Amino acid sequence: MTIQTIGVVGAGSMGSGIANLAAINGFHVILRDIEERFLEKALNRIDQFMTKSVSKGKMTEDDKRDTLDRIQTTTDLEDLRHADIVIEAVVEDLELKKQVFSQLDQIVPGEVILATNTSAISITEIAAATNRPERVAGMHFFNPAQLMKLVEVVRGYRTSDQTVEELKALSKQLSKEPVEVKKDSPGFIVNRIMIPQFIEAIKLLEEGVASPEDIDKAVTLGLNYPMGPFTLQDFAGVDIGYYVMEYMKNELDDSHFAPPLLLKQLVRAKRLGKKNRSGFLRLQVGGEKMSYQFLLCDIEDRVAIITINRPPVNPLNQNVFQELSAVFTELEADDNVRSIILTGSGEKAFVAGADIYEMAELDLVGINKMNKISRAVFTKIENSTKPVIAALNGLTLGGGFELALACDLRISSDRAKYAFPEVGLGIIPGGGGTQRLQKMVGQGVAKELIYFGEMIDADRALELHIVNKVVPADQVIEAAKEWASQETCSKTADCSANGQDRRQWRWRF
Ligand SMILES: NC(=O)c1ccc[n+]([C@@H]2O[C@H](COP(=O)([O-])OP(=O)(O)OC[C@H]3O[C@@H](n4cnc5c(N)ncnc54)[C@H](O)[C@@H]3O)[C@@H](O)[C@H]2O)c1
Repeated sequence: MTIQTIGVVGAGSMGSGIANLAAINGFHVILRDIEERFLEKALNRIDQFMTKSVSKGKMTEDDKRDTLDRIQTTTDLEDLRHADIVIEAVVEDLELKKQVFSQLDQIVPGEVILATNTSAISITEIAAATNRPERVAGMHFFNPAQLMKLVEVVRGYRTSDQTVEELKALSKQLSKEPVEVKKDSPGFIVNRIMIPQFIEAIKLLEEGVASPEDIDKAVTLGLNYPMGPFTLQDFAGVDIGYYVMEYMKNELDDSHFAPPLLLKQLVRAKRLGKKNRSGFLRLQVGGEKMSYQFLLCDIEDRVAIITINRPPVNPLNQNVFQELSAVFTELEADDNVRSIILTGSGEKAFVAGADIYEMAELDLVGINKMNKISRAVFTKIENSTKPVIAALNGLTLGGGFELALACDLRISSDRAKYAFPEVGLGIIPGGGGTQRLQKMVGQGVAKELIYFGEMIDADRALELHIVNKVVPADQVIEAAKEWASQETCSKTADCSANGQDRRQWRWRF
């Protein structure tokens, strides 16, 4: 069948690009979205893209006008009845795609190919929503569709050879290079390789190994990629990566594809990347704060107060560690924050240790993983460029004690108590607390506290220089705020203040 008119369903980043590409290559296009405003936005995007091409001499004003004339927009799916092929590019949601395909199947003549631009979803499952599975296939363009050379032509279980050949030929007519994906496998080729790299990049960020800018720089210069993983995720849409990871995790039954918590938080907070001027590389640019399940984070007069909010005793578990990691990433990047206070919810405890219910469920691998996460988070806190003050409002035990030791300064309630009680369970502190404590109190006292799990009160902790100051229980936060807001409470010293050169240095202990 000769293709003259291409229907495109969904006029977002990809749909508008595909429509523009088809029109540039001489096809008539019917572009459909659910509301007029999305279509207007798409036409603006297309106009902007071609204005740049004209200014670069790649296209004339006449070509641009003719191309725009070839694009018809509509909110009525029925208008797709005149298309010789339909390419679907609605959001990455299986149910929505099934619904769109089932409707298209009723509207568009039976021999017409229905292609999907899905990034990962099963073609077979989408095709099953129609009565023409042999004429359904994946036609996976890359962003921006006008420029990226590759198209993955993906077979569903019942896609016919003829459909695959016709799509490969169409790709060439669109000036693309097709590759055939012979099996309907989640993520096809490119995303199967790229998504694990995104996940590792986000984990490096969560563990505080490097900033997103430096991770991007390392990947572009070290692997010769044109874009780093964070630039690419912000460009493509942070939510797209999230949905693809969720889908691949479930389809492949492989938790390695699980979206890291920081990514979930960005999606929850609608920091979706370039499309709403936010994302990984723009964490510091205004907008809403991220939302956390187990933490509260308030910023007042440039002092951030993080409260671990699992009353009554605020136990640590993997989710709390992941959220701590995410909030420290966020605050590190926020120029409006100069210092950080860490405290626990309620009056009973700062943190009374690890979540024993979760611990009981963990096997050896799980415990190792938990130790690794805790070490990474404590190190991240210790390495924060902003001073971190622990406001120790009550029991500070086990992992909570280790967390307090990773902070720069400790202000204690007169009712607080300190211990590593885990020795009674045959466990020694696994988050680096053994090292941090001995640096503070010397080996002898550190061993005494660790070997015997002895509980000490606030006055004894002050005597041992474990805490810097003891105040009445109701004054802990105020005392921490007073310190945190002092100009001199800083981990960097600026020589320019003394009329010397403008170098900055960091305190190291
Ligand atoms: N963004 C990328 O880099 C990229 C790359 C390759 C493939 N994809 C895939 O392309 C598809 C679209 O992604 P996107 O980034 O363009 O998303 P997007 O959110 O930018 O756009 C989706 C559009 O679909 C519209 N829509 C929703 N329901 C609709 C319906 N019933 N009928 C018509 N339009 C409808 C929305 O209004 C929106 O304008 C997804 O399947 C995605 O996985 C995205």
